Amino acid sequence: MYSAKVMDHFANPRNVGELADANGIGEVGNEKCGDIMKIYLKVENEVITDVKFMTFGCGAAIATSSMATELIKGKSLSEALTLTNQAVVEALDGLPPVKIHCSVLAEQAIKTAIADYYTRQGIDPTPIVGELKSDCHDCDCH
Ligand code: FES
Repeated sequence: MYSAKVMDHFANPRNVGELADANGIGEVGNEKCGDIMKIYLKVENEVITDVKFMTFGCGAAIATSSMATELIKGKSLSEALTLTNQAVVEALDGLPPVKIHCSVLAEQAIKTAIADYYTRQGIDPTPIVGELKSDCHDCDCH
């Protein structure tokens, strides 16, 4: 049911923890399942130099958080903003259809953290990041 990559990132998640010197933090939750994901970014000169995550959730949520942090580490903010949940799922060699919504949580958490970074810089994030959903209970991916 789950690919070897999903099992690997679930059993050995990368970039777990908190960043004391984070300058962008995003937390999102899924009302339906109660899972919560928090992403910490350290941004220097518009580049994500470090990233950590804490996920209280299902195995797919942990695996997608882990892969998503690997995919944005060292990337510019504009590159990180183009990361879609589909790209995370592809990098994990797929997820069962009922688990696709878990990957949406990772994409939203990253966007929320980047929006927080811009807000802290005194920049309105909406034109850059777009409208954010703080949870995905009303999305139609379930
Ligand atoms: Fe909630 Fe996966 S079941 S994020």
